[in-house]
Amino acid sequence: MLTSPSLLSADFGRLNDDIDMLNDSDADYLHLDIMDGVFVPNISFGFPVLKYVAKRSKKPLDAHLMIVEPQKFVNEVKNLGCEYMTVHQEACVHLDRVVNSIKEAGMKAGVALNPATPVDTLRHCIGSIDMVLVMSVNPGFGGQKFIPYTIEKVRMLREMIDKAGAGTIIEVDGGVNLETGAALAQAGADMLVAGSFVFSAQCPQAQISALKHL
Ligand code: DX5
Ligand code: ZN
Repeated sequence: MLTSPSLLSADFGRLNDDIDMLNDSDADYLHLDIMDGVFVPNISFGFPVLKYVAKRSKKPLDAHLMIVEPQKFVNEVKNLGCEYMTVHQEACVHLDRVVNSIKEAGMKAGVALNPATPVDTLRHCIGSIDMVLVMSVNPGFGGQKFIPYTIEKVRMLREMIDKAGAGTIIEVDGGVNLETGAALAQAGADMLVAGSFVFSAQCPQAQISALKHL
């Protein structure tokens, strides 16, 4: 299992320490939750902060944009050196065009689906998407309760991807712990995001390793 700990649950007063801790962990990626207070009812951090995060991180960056008009920020995300740029299907009127512009910028394109958005909306373009991020909570906050019906969405998505012969990977974000993570692994998830499960623990690195071994 690939793991992508979310910086949203880190202690922003000692961000460097938390990034160093992740650098020394089994994490595969560093998940960056970018919020605008419009698409979601919360604001997290923006590019001036992320510039320093990117400089300090030794892990590849996995940017999750919970913002309206994410196409306006393709260059900023690229300049951070992100491997994945994930935009919300619900925030893109011209999703196909946005996915193409992310890839033209040299990044991998991710598309996130809110819990209530059906996976079928990606059926026709799945072959051009590098990663689908299934939200297993309503986006905007860390520490929320996992929504169980999203497991079925992962199963359906896995089937859709395999049928299409696409190389798309499935990431799941929200309320991930060892119990929900195990169910998601069984349903076909490839990568798990975890915020509070990692950062509220005595030993965050042990939590990351435990998720990795699911
Ligand atoms: C929620 C964010 C998540 C969040 C997950 O909108 O997209 O990445 O940090 O936090 P937990 O793991 O605490 O649910
Ligand atoms: Zn996220």
